[in-house]
Amino acid sequence: MRVMGSIFLLFCVTVSGCRGCFEPQGNRVSSKKNLSVFQALTGEDEESDRNRWDELYNQSPAMTGHDPAPILVQFIDIIPVGRALDIAMGEGRNAVFLAKKGFLVEGVDFSEVAILRAQKWARENRVHIETTGIDLNKYAIRSGAFDVIVNIDYLQRSLIPQIKKGLKTGGVVVFENATTEQLKNPGGQGLVPEFLLKPGELKEAFRDFQILFYDETNNGIEAKAKLVAVKP
Ligand SMILES: C[S@@+](CC[C@H](N)C(=O)[O-])C[C@H]1O[C@@H](n2cnc3c(N)ncnc32)[C@H](O)[C@@H]1O
Repeated sequence: MRVMGSIFLLFCVTVSGCRGCFEPQGNRVSSKKNLSVFQALTGEDEESDRNRWDELYNQSPAMTGHDPAPILVQFIDIIPVGRALDIAMGEGRNAVFLAKKGFLVEGVDFSEVAILRAQKWARENRVHIETTGIDLNKYAIRSGAFDVIVNIDYLQRSLIPQIKKGLKTGGVVVFENATTEQLKNPGGQGLVPEFLLKPGELKEAFRDFQILFYDETNNGIEAKAKLVAVKP
């Protein structure tokens, strides 16, 4: 059994353009437009977790779609152009968006399938992204290295102090993940609360940052906390 920090909770968001998502059991749900929650929680070891994700990616040609996260699009103009880190990059929708905006992007993910897709998406957009295939439980974010760190639909609490250290002064964190409110929604059945953000948790975690945007809502389909904050 892996330690708590190594177990992950991930959310697949069917944004417009996303061609499918997965129910908790991993069954494909085609043509869903709303948020569907997927918890890839084997709790066994890195290999089984990674295989699980590779398997999921292989079931869909573009699981998270190519459109960048709306929160990133909304705040892109206030982020100082420079080095970007995309945590749990997936198929590269956010990494490629940042690269197209002039950022030097590093994306980290342990799924080989996701990384190959992200690289392909970058090539198709004629941009370059650096990719690292590693279990984030074994990854150390370089201190003071990044102008922006993106953490979308991935929760590994042990990374939060590293995200803070990894940003340069004036650097921006863009963080989004589902909350425990999701348990009340139809798509939230069977989720493990431990791997959902608690009410106010994300805001509290970055209380020493300058919070530019914080939103915590449940629209009955998706319950999420979203934050954009600057390292003072
Ligand atoms: C929901 S998906 C991609 C989300 C992506 N941030 C986006 O917004 O499109 C989550 C990703 O986290 C990756 N992942 C899950 N656990 C991981 C771990 N322990 N180390 C590295 N990557 C992990 C999966 O392979 C998957 O690509």
